[in-house]
Amino acid sequence: MCGIVGYTGKTPAINLIIDGLKRLEYRGYDSAGIAIPIQKSEKLFVEKRAGKLQILSNSLTNVPKSNAGIGHTRWATHGGPTDLNAHPHLDESGKLAVIHNGIIENYLEIRRQLESAGHKYLSETDTESVAHLLADAYKRNGSDLSAAMREVCQQLRGSFTLLAIHSDHPDLIVGARRNSPLVVGVGNGENFLASDVSAFISHTKKALELGQDQVVSITPEKISVTDLKGLAVKPKDFEISWDAKAAERGGFTHFMLKEIYEQPKAIADTLLISKSISESMNKAKQNSGLNLNIDLSEIKKIVFIACGTAYHAGLVGKYVIEAWTKISVDVELASEYRYREPAISKSTLIVPISQSGETMDTLMAMRYAQKNGAKILSICNTNGSTIPRESDAVIYTAAGPEIAVASTKAFVTQLIAIYLLGIHFAKLHNSLTQKEIDQILSELDALPAKVEQVLETVEPLREMTRKFKDAASMLFIGRGVGFPTVLEGALKLKELAYMHAEGFAGGELKHGPIALIENGTPVVALLPSEESVINEKMLSNIQEVKARGANVIIISDHEVKNFDLQIRIPTCSELLQPILAVIPLQVIAYEMAVARGNDVDQPRNLAKSVTVE
Ligand code: AGP
Repeated sequence: MCGIVGYTGKTPAINLIIDGLKRLEYRGYDSAGIAIPIQKSEKLFVEKRAGKLQILSNSLTNVPKSNAGIGHTRWATHGGPTDLNAHPHLDESGKLAVIHNGIIENYLEIRRQLESAGHKYLSETDTESVAHLLADAYKRNGSDLSAAMREVCQQLRGSFTLLAIHSDHPDLIVGARRNSPLVVGVGNGENFLASDVSAFISHTKKALELGQDQVVSITPEKISVTDLKGLAVKPKDFEISWDAKAAERGGFTHFMLKEIYEQPKAIADTLLISKSISESMNKAKQNSGLNLNIDLSEIKKIVFIACGTAYHAGLVGKYVIEAWTKISVDVELASEYRYREPAISKSTLIVPISQSGETMDTLMAMRYAQKNGAKILSICNTNGSTIPRESDAVIYTAAGPEIAVASTKAFVTQLIAIYLLGIHFAKLHNSLTQKEIDQILSELDALPAKVEQVLETVEPLREMTRKFKDAASMLFIGRGVGFPTVLEGALKLKELAYMHAEGFAGGELKHGPIALIENGTPVVALLPSEESVINEKMLSNIQEVKARGANVIIISDHEVKNFDLQIRIPTCSELLQPILAVIPLQVIAYEMAVARGNDVDQPRNLAKSVTVE
């Protein structure tokens, strides 16, 4: 997620803005920039650089004095991390600047309209469309920046936090938000706007919460909030009780918990981004700088290559894509792949899956496959990282930066990208009817709300997990796509609770692992819905372990009689269930780590991105 800071008041703005952006660095970013008004109605002072804040700070040598301005750290979505794509974005006059967090879904159609009206674009971003739209609306609204913002917001689809300044009004900052955070810091003779309170918490603890589709205008002495029609709104004021560190975690105890709760938005944002990709893949056109000019019509085999959690996403992908397209799918551990001389041909599509885009095992496996003639389409969460940079095409997930070492929102967004890739191949091969595709797409759109529902019901897991705090190990069983899902649950528990954990296909128990079951062994069982052909089989597996004394925790979308430890998840199509079923597994691992007093965000021996083989 991008970092956003605005200041207007009685002291030089530049240091306050840079300090505020520093406090937002934890959000992850790959470029940064600032804009400040110098002379009334003259060009703004703007500096923006790819890379870390220090690179921007080093370039701020002769900054003119100004007591207002805006600053931004960008986590690239549309267009790579470059100086040109960094925010702020300007109109052609250079007197109006905009910064943005979120995704403007209809930016391409806006861009086409504005370019045909003569606007000249400099970047590949969705945000630049807002700058040009705002400049036109500013003229139409008699140089009223707040009215212009209200008009523009009504034309935008998607999620946004926007800040804008114009040199005609050197002490004014106008902001707007929809499905993306924006808070007001209320000072004495100075006011702040930011994507979260950590940007200004050291200056004021008085804040105002803005609602959906509201526009806020601040000057050093005045704060006014309206709806998009211009009607005044009284924002909710609150006193910030967090300290700066807690503020960085949005008030959550750990980044991992914050990221578990960010999953509904991460899924929704990835659907926004990936859908435009799957549309552009159909039209085989360039799309916002993502290199998607790849012809997949000759592909006869798909091979997912990944590590850890990303590997488990690939395993789910095998079940999904083979069911929807009958194309053969393999899933390979990246660290094994290139040492076994695998069969590769021009009709093989290699799909590296990687949150960081820097995992050396995955990168080396990809290079090996590329050298042997395979096409590469990567799924990645980090714009401009090595794996997508060296791929023939890429589908970016929009989970935002994942700070906790244990991957949560990256996993669910990797699944979303895989589902959309499966739909793309189903269209290419006519293996699903349009009705079936539309049904899947509408189910995908319903997932963020269903994940929210699961998150509202995980509270009992805390107490349930504490019961097994001292267990020697925990076993997980599942069938179908439930099998890779429980593998992911076992990995989460291992890496967070430092507890032995193992996932099994339910049908495998009788071939050996059932010998592990003794009185009190905790077993998490993931059940598909009642109409699934494997539901009965899973129920027998549960009875098998229960009969041998296991403590069974059931995750299902329906009640199972005579089991007191049950976690309910909403109903969905079987192949989409991993998205909902993995949430309780993440929470079990999180709660176990907390109960055991472990470092949740930085578990021992682990790194967020393993850049060595
Ligand atoms: C997941 O919780 C782990 N942190 C780890 O397995 C991770 O998924 C793996 O190292 C792959 O990382 P990547 O997605 O950045 O390539």
